Amino acid sequence: MVKMRSALAAAVAFLSASVAAVSFSGFASDLESIKFAINIPQEENSNALYFSMSAPIETSWFAVGMGGSTMKDSLMFMAYLDKSGKNMTLSPRLSYGQVEPSFTPDVGITILNGTEVTKDTMTVSVKCFGCRKWKGGAIDPTSTNAKFIWANGGVGAIKSNSKNAAIKRHGSYGRFQMDLTKAVGPGGAAPLNTTKTEGSLQISEVADRNFMSGAHACIMVFTFVGLMPIAVLLLRVANSPRLHGVVQAVSASLALVGLALGLKVGMMYNRTRKFNTAHQIIGLLVIIMMVGQFVLGFLHHRMFVKTKAPTKLAPIHIWLGRVVILAGTVNAFIGFPLALNARFDLFLLGIVLFMVILSGPLIFWRWRRNIQKAEKEAEIGKPRGGGYQSEPWRGEVGRGDVDLGNYPPPPQPMQPPPMYR
Ligand code: HEM
Ligand SMILES: *[C@@H]1O[C@H](CO)[C@@H](O)[C@H](O)[C@H]1NC(C)=O
Ligand SMILES: *[C@@H]1O[C@H](CO)[C@@H](O)[C@H](O)[C@H]1NC(C)=O
Ligand SMILES: *[C@@H]1O[C@H](CO)[C@@H](O)[C@H](O)[C@H]1NC(C)=O
Repeated sequence: MVKMRSALAAAVAFLSASVAAVSFSGFASDLESIKFAINIPQEENSNALYFSMSAPIETSWFAVGMGGSTMKDSLMFMAYLDKSGKNMTLSPRLSYGQVEPSFTPDVGITILNGTEVTKDTMTVSVKCFGCRKWKGGAIDPTSTNAKFIWANGGVGAIKSNSKNAAIKRHGSYGRFQMDLTKAVGPGGAAPLNTTKTEGSLQISEVADRNFMSGAHACIMVFTFVGLMPIAVLLLRVANSPRLHGVVQAVSASLALVGLALGLKVGMMYNRTRKFNTAHQIIGLLVIIMMVGQFVLGFLHHRMFVKTKAPTKLAPIHIWLGRVVILAGTVNAFIGFPLALNARFDLFLLGIVLFMVILSGPLIFWRWRRNIQKAEKEAEIGKPRGGGYQSEPWRGEVGRGDVDLGNYPPPPQPMQPPPMYR
């Protein structure tokens, strides 16, 4: 009796399995960062395909591209969690090169039943329409070594219903090939429960050496939040115009390197390709002001060395400098969300607070010393010098705040100029 029942069960299982069986080609990357299966309905005139793919839940997005071994030639199917986090969004995309692919509305997508999100895997099963041919490529059902690409976003969760959702660059990408003749047959959802079918082969899997946006951020934060304020302290607290100039020359050069990296990164993403975001516009303005700042500082110094008197350029230099540092810092706070890294703003806030805490006491100390010095000088009736008086309209009284850049008295004959002491 028991025997008969299990024989029956086996027969039923066999039957339902053979009914469910669909021709498909399957691929799984060596590290199982992606699984993919495709069915090519043999019905004449069909312009549809069935495919399924899955990836570990930690991945922010994953994608398979068919028709070529570069991004440029591929029709890419990109998947990420939908808004609820319980279902998937599938976005067909094309790109003209090694840049963020853009959604193409020419491909129709129906999400099928196999789609699910579990605690460790995201799976999406779809039927696509009008996806056998696209601008730049086509799928060839007779190919035994059809070219595919795949990519995994870094760790994260996108959670969007939009097919245009902004993404970060891949953490890894690779190439594979499949025997598509095995995929041709009656149409049906492609099963993912296999790893690799015969004829499918991994060609490469590469960790993306994607350093540019990180380097851009590090250089800019180091420059605008670190180096530039330090150069101000060198002038005002350490009283060294020479060091101030040298360090600002370094910081301006670094900022130009950061700018070059930023321009390069900006061209990669749909959201920044037109260079019309606040971060990019403010950034360019800040760089222009910074270059002006350098010229102003240089001219001012030259005039001051000649005349030993405050120049008209000094207040401009001081106020523009404050604007540059402040706007640069604000721009960093805007930049991280643009790069989909908003949480780094907290680190940035920490660095800014550290700089404030560091420089506050130094500035206070210097301010007190200047007042004492000024009182002494007033007693002996010595005229005051100073190249960096930023608020000349304030006159003698309120100058403690701003006149932190007093030069030492003019050199006596036969003494080297103050810069070289
Ligand atoms: C924001 C989106 C993306 C950006 C900015 C981007 C950018 C790039 C860049 C710069 C490279 C060259 C990497 C290097 O030489 O180190 C590259 C290569 C590659 N990417 Fe992407 N990519 C994006 C999305 C995708 C997607 C969705 C896929 C997959 C389906 C993909 C697959 C590949 C593959 C296979 C390569 C190597 C082959 C080739 O040169 O095209 N990428 N990508
Ligand atoms: C894959 O799933 C089908 C039914 O959906 C089943 O019949 C088959 O045995 C499964 N194969 C593997 C390797 O698990
Ligand atoms: C998942 O989303 C698709 C549309 O994108 C919808 O047709 C389907 O019913 C959803 N599935 C679940 C379980 O909510
Ligand atoms: C998908 O699943 C739902 C409920 O689980 C079922 O009613 C529906 O018939 C299924 N659709 C297909 C195409 O299998």
